[in-house]
Amino acid sequence: MEISDHTKVAILGAGRGGRALIDLLHHIPSIEIVGIADRNPAAPGLQRARELQIPVTTNVPDLIGNHGVSLIMDVTGDPEMERYLHAHKPPAADILSGSASRLLWKLIQHESKLEAELLQSEKLAGIGSLAAGIAHDINNPLQLILGLAENLTEERDLTAVHEQARDIIEAVKRTSAICRDLTHYSRRASSHQDVLVSVNEKMDEALKIARYASSLHDIEMIKQYQPGAAVKGNPDELLHVLVNLITNAVHAMELGGGTLTLETKLFDGQVHVRISDTGCGIAPDKISEIFEPFFTTKAPDKGTGLGLYNVKTIVDKMHGTTAVDSQIEKGTTFTLTFPNAEPAGQGRLS
Ligand SMILES: Nc1ncnc2c1ncn2[C@@H]1O[C@H](COP(=O)(O)OP(=O)(O)OP(=O)(O)O)[C@@H](O)[C@H]1O
Ligand SMILES: [Mg+2]
Repeated sequence: MEISDHTKVAILGAGRGGRALIDLLHHIPSIEIVGIADRNPAAPGLQRARELQIPVTTNVPDLIGNHGVSLIMDVTGDPEMERYLHAHKPPAADILSGSASRLLWKLIQHESKLEAELLQSEKLAGIGSLAAGIAHDINNPLQLILGLAENLTEERDLTAVHEQARDIIEAVKRTSAICRDLTHYSRRASSHQDVLVSVNEKMDEALKIARYASSLHDIEMIKQYQPGAAVKGNPDELLHVLVNLITNAVHAMELGGGTLTLETKLFDGQVHVRISDTGCGIAPDKISEIFEPFFTTKAPDKGTGLGLYNVKTIVDKMHGTTAVDSQIEKGTTFTLTFPNAEPAGQGRLS
């Protein structure tokens, strides 16, 4: 193929493949789509081409012969067309057809699937690092259940049997509570509309989930909640924001322990949500990068670097702001500021 930074492309076939090609190629500045042809006037790609003001035709010879075309992309799937093109193409043009164009179609489909998966993994970012904690928390009650059940097979005293059965029930309840918290957290973004959300309740829920991520053993906790603090948004998304911020704070104090302060405040018609730690802090030259997707200082199995990117995306969507204040070796404070949704005590909170 001619290597120049401007490629003139003619697309033959306006079915799903042709339509996907238009959608993909029209974003690329160095590619000009000179036209698209299809015998069927109702083909979906023709409609899309008209919307984007790309010339539409039924005349293949005219399209490939008259526009200085450098690449002909044939997605008709028609062997006749392939033969015709090889016999009649302008000498300067290259042809992409047959199995090469099928491969391209597969790549396009694969890419759009990856994009959808990325969106979902953004939602789940952070949950990877929870896995070890979850396994640990689920395994403890399971070991207990196993031991009790083994005893039961030999136990003759009915009172002891009842007692052990009750212990088993408790252990099972604990395991299913862990699973319930997590399935709630990992569920796909729920479609419901924005509602009034109690920030204090979400903060406590987030703390419960963050517990699975790392040990809170050496961490002192201070909660300063203002009753009635409420914001408007998607409760699952707000939960996701708080889980990420708390998990980061706990990770920052992993080595020496410290104090985690969770604060909510109504001030000046706004709701302030503050999460502070006394951990390792963030270097001044890194502060501007922490909200970038995939920026992480953690080992690959510990962090994806999507946590804060998601936080900022969700907070922006809720018309809030995200601020960070950090000193190396002293600690970090993240402050979220939201418009106050409603005066305290009114409306239903989720
Ligand atoms: N409270 C904090 N204290 C110190 N550093 C922090 C804090 N919060 C974030 N950081 C820094 O910002 C980086 C990006 O954070 P972010 O939450 O986006 O990703 P991550 O925690 O590395 O991975 P994950 O995708 O699992 O959340 C972290 O790797 C860390 O260097
Ligand atoms: Mg994180």
